[in-house]
Amino acid sequence: MISIAIDGPSGAGKSTLARRLAADLGYVYVDTGAMYRSIGLYAVRCGVDPHDAAAVEALLPRIKLEIRLLEGTQHIYLNGEDVSEAIRAEAIGMAASAVSAHPAVRAFLLDTQRGLACSQNVLMDGRDIGTVVLPDATVKIYLTASAEARADRRCRELRQKGQDAVYETVLADIRQRDDQDMHRAIAPLKQAEDAIRIDTSEIDFDQSFALLRRTILEHI
Ligand code: DC
Repeated sequence: MISIAIDGPSGAGKSTLARRLAADLGYVYVDTGAMYRSIGLYAVRCGVDPHDAAAVEALLPRIKLEIRLLEGTQHIYLNGEDVSEAIRAEAIGMAASAVSAHPAVRAFLLDTQRGLACSQNVLMDGRDIGTVVLPDATVKIYLTASAEARADRRCRELRQKGQDAVYETVLADIRQRDDQDMHRAIAPLKQAEDAIRIDTSEIDFDQSFALLRRTILEHI
């Protein structure tokens, strides 16, 4: 089986690029962030502080996650409810980052993530795919961009959706998430030794897509 790991900080364009690349290459796209977001959403809905390791761990037996592909798009179900849209809120991204620091949460998701790569060609994106989940991935990409470039893109995205976006607030959130994701004790975000680093700060979406596609095809 071929597996492509794409890791990097939030807002680097990973999911949009990964989804398009998977469709282009005919691989199954696995968005592991959506799994952490669903657990974050569940904690928030239960009134549990996502930073409270013991309280979040106690919720895990009550959580059933399912991934289904509908017309080529990944949908995630939390206890039977399609939460694919609900998990995209900014606050849930922050909650996801907090719950993802707990070892019990990571252990809860690891087998599912590895299982998905056993029987099909996958393109999986996240923070620790090349370092922990699929250390033997066929190709590993570390996709990054400066915090400023990511904040700028995020603001434009939010405004397109008709939501208010203050650049300074968005930038501060991105920096806080980077800090949480890079400095946690377990499976922190870092570039795998054998990953190819791609920085998209200075290039647009189409250029990033072309560069990633070429890089992947050169290595499989
Ligand atoms: O990629 P994303 O923004 O949807 O991810 C949400 C959070 O989940 C992110 O801040 C850190 C966490 N995460 C993780 O720890 N490991 C992964 N493989 C994917 C996401």
